[in-house]
Amino acid sequence: MSSVDAFGLDGRVAFVSGGGGAIGSAIAAALGSAGARVVISEISEERGEEAAEKVRALGVESFAVTVDATVEAQAEMAVARAVETFGRIDIMVNAVGGGAGKVIFDAQDYPRDAWDWILELNLRSTLVATQAVVRQMITAGQGGRIVNISSVRAQLGINSGYSAYVAAKGAVSSLTRQWATEWAKYGITVNAIAPTFVDTPQVAMLLGDPAFKAGVVGRIPLGRVGETGDLVGAVIFFASGASSFVTGQILGIDGGLTATQ
Ligand SMILES: NC(=O)c1ccc[n+]([C@@H]2O[C@H](COP(=O)([O-])OP(=O)(O)OC[C@H]3O[C@@H](n4cnc5c(N)ncnc54)[C@H](OP(=O)(O)O)[C@@H]3O)[C@@H](O)[C@H]2O)c1
Repeated sequence: MSSVDAFGLDGRVAFVSGGGGAIGSAIAAALGSAGARVVISEISEERGEEAAEKVRALGVESFAVTVDATVEAQAEMAVARAVETFGRIDIMVNAVGGGAGKVIFDAQDYPRDAWDWILELNLRSTLVATQAVVRQMITAGQGGRIVNISSVRAQLGINSGYSAYVAAKGAVSSLTRQWATEWAKYGITVNAIAPTFVDTPQVAMLLGDPAFKAGVVGRIPLGRVGETGDLVGAVIFFASGASSFVTGQILGIDGGLTATQ
């Protein structure tokens, strides 16, 4: 296989948890463009269907399943549907998460209910959905690719009330390394992308404040926030044969932000 062909995903099946979200749907479309059939696992039926339709418009098969990724039985059901329909799962992307901007509190007073919500949304969703998919990958015995979405906040503090989010994303990065180590024997690689702010509805309110946005952009050497399109190349790399010897890595997609620290 030539080095460029190694990036292709023809014949593969991808499962995108949170595939109806801003980043998840962009990743689902990119996986479809690279040739994979795509299962969209998403809590919102409407956004899941929209994302699947976008993938089908590219001429590849895709369907959505409505799932709360934090509930074991639902995650298992989604995996069963994927296998019934497409016969296998080769690639999984965890794109459920976020919420940080909605629950900003001083660290010393960080409320337990907000803490639990952020940990459920970012960490439990990743754990539960991945366990369901990986058990299938291990049983199938054909290896696999897992791609998590961490954040620069796994690595960098921020002078704003982000305690729960940094804890959750720090754990997602740690789990990426732990799972890579444990599941290498099954031929399953586990990597993560760690973006800085990506221009999505989740962060629109924060970035809508010109002073806040100027502060963010001022710290990013490439002088802008991310776009969803900035993330997909790295995901295709981690999902494809091009990254066969890469596992346990967390790739900053941050315009150089972490390079300055
Ligand atoms: N946007 C950024 O600046 C940025 C930066 C770094 C990292 N990230 C990370 O990138 C990931 C995606 O972020 P995003 O901006 O694309 O957020 P998003 O648009 O809210 O996407 C997340 C999707 O997951 C869905 N979801 C929520 N809870 C779920 C559950 N329990 N089960 C299944 N689906 C569920 C959401 O549905 P509802 O909307 O109905 O809840 C939404 O469609 C997150 O992990 C986030 O932390 C984002």
